[in-house]
Amino acid sequence: MSATPRWAAVVLAAGQGTRMRSALPKVAHRLAGRPMVRHVIEAAREAGVDDVVVVASADESSSVVQASAGDDVRFAVQPYPLGTGDAVEAARDATHDAEFVLILNGDVPLVRATSLVRLTTAVSEPRDGTAPDLAVLTAEVAVESYGFLELEGDRVTAIIETKADAEIDRDLRRSINAGQYAVRASWLWPHLRRIPPAENGERYLTQLAAMAHSEGNPALAVAADHPDEVRGINDRVQLAEAEAILRTRIRRRHMIAGVTLIDPASTYIDADVTIGMDTTIAPQTHLQGATDIGDGCTIGPGALVRDSHVGERCTVRFSVIEESTLEAHVDVGPYSHLRAGSYICQDVHIGNFAEVKASRLGRATKMGHFSYIGDAEVGEHVNIGAGTITANYDGVRKNRTVIGDGAFIGSDTMLVAPVRVGAGAGTSAGSVVTHDVPDGMMAIGAPARLRTKAARDGEKGDSSAGR
Ligand code: UD1
Ligand code: CA
Repeated sequence: MSATPRWAAVVLAAGQGTRMRSALPKVAHRLAGRPMVRHVIEAAREAGVDDVVVVASADESSSVVQASAGDDVRFAVQPYPLGTGDAVEAARDATHDAEFVLILNGDVPLVRATSLVRLTTAVSEPRDGTAPDLAVLTAEVAVESYGFLELEGDRVTAIIETKADAEIDRDLRRSINAGQYAVRASWLWPHLRRIPPAENGERYLTQLAAMAHSEGNPALAVAADHPDEVRGINDRVQLAEAEAILRTRIRRRHMIAGVTLIDPASTYIDADVTIGMDTTIAPQTHLQGATDIGDGCTIGPGALVRDSHVGERCTVRFSVIEESTLEAHVDVGPYSHLRAGSYICQDVHIGNFAEVKASRLGRATKMGHFSYIGDAEVGEHVNIGAGTITANYDGVRKNRTVIGDGAFIGSDTMLVAPVRVGAGAGTSAGSVVTHDVPDGMMAIGAPARLRTKAARDGEKGDSSAGR
C-alpha cells in the first residue's frame, strides 16, 4: 500500500437549530456532560481522522460553538446558513488540500468510530481497482424527517429530502441518510460548486448523490453498525433520547472494564469520566465532567463527584465533591461537601456535615463532625473537633488559616483568620482564636488566651467531642 491518505474531517455546526428553541446553539447542548459537537469530533479522531475543521456561523453564536468544539480543531465560517452543501464549501481552504474529506453533521453525535472507519475505507481503499468517490452512512429506521437513500443494491441513485414533502410516510422504515459522508476531495470540490439551490435557497449536500449516479460512479451506501448511531438531534425530545442511549453505552463500557454498578439505571456517568478496576458505584450517584476515580473505591450511594480526582480505595457516601483532589484511602460522608480547590491527603477522614473549600488537609487528619474549613492549610494528624469553623471572611477579603501537624482543635473552636495554630498546639472547646498560637501552646477561651499545655493540664476545660 502507498502512504496513508491524508484525511480531513469537516463537522457541520453552523445551522440555526431552531427546533431546539434555545438561546444556545444546538451543537453546544450537552450529552453525557460533553457538548454535542465534541462527541462528533471524538468519533472522527477515534476513526483516525485527527485533522478536524468545524464549520461555525458568522453570528454571535460562533464563539459558543468554538468553545464547545475545543481548541484542538480548526474553524471555518459559513457567512450565511445557505445549507449543508454551502457549509462544506466554506470549509474548503481549512482542509488544507486533504485527499479525502469525512463530512459529519454536528448534530449526529452517537455515530461510532467503527462505522466511520468502514465509511472512510470505502472510498480510500479501492476494491478490484475501483472505489466510489462518495460513500454515505445509512441505517434502516423510520424516515421521520431524515433524508433517505434511493438504492440499487448498495449503490445510491439519489437522496430524497423528506422535509418539504408532506406526501411521504414518515413512519416507514427506510435506509436513511445519516448525514455522514466520506468523499474524495478532487471530486468533492468541483461538484459542490455545481449544487443548485433548492426552493428555500439552501444548497443541499445530498444532491451529490444524484450527481455521482448520473456520472456512472454512484455513491456507496455503508450501513452503520447500529441504527442508534444515525440519530440526528433537532429538538429536546431527541436530545433526551440520545442522552439515554449514550449513558447506557457509557455504563456498559465501565462494567466491561471491571467497575461494579449496583444499579446502572440510577448511575449517571459523563462521557469523559474514568474509573479504576474493582471500584463499586452505588445507586443514585453522578460522576461528572473531567473526573477520574481510582481502583478499589466505593462511590455512593448518593454521591456527586464533579471535575475531581479520587485516588484508590476511597469511600464517598451521600456527599458532593467538586473540583477537588482526594489522595488514596480517604473517606468522606455521609452528607459532606468538598468545594473547589480542596486537596485531601491520604488516609484523611471527613465525616458528616463537613464543608471544605480551597484547603489542604494533611495526611491522616480527622474532621469528623459538622465543621467548616475554608482557605486553610491543615497539617498531618490534626484532629478537627466537632463544630470547628474557620472564620475566613472578614466581609472584605478571604483570609487564610494555617494549622500545624499534630494540632488538636477542640470542639466548637472559632479560628478567626488570618490565624496560625502551631504544630502540636491545641485549642480548648468553645475557644475563639484571634491570635496565632505558637507550636505546642494551648489557646483557651473567648477571645482565647495562651497557656502552656502543662499549665492547662492543671486546669480543666478542654474537651473534644470529635473522634
Ligand atoms: C440533514 C440531511 C438529511 C439527513 C439528516 C441527518 C441535508 C440537506 N439533509 O437534514 O438528508 O437525513 O441531516 O441527520 O443535508 N448546517 C450548517 N449550515 C447550514 C445548514 C446546516 O452548518 O447552512 C449544519 C447544522 O448545524 C447541522 C447539520 O448541518 O449540524 C445538518 O443540518 P440540519 O438542518 O439539521 O439538516 P437536517 O434537516 O437534519
Ligand atoms: Ca439535523
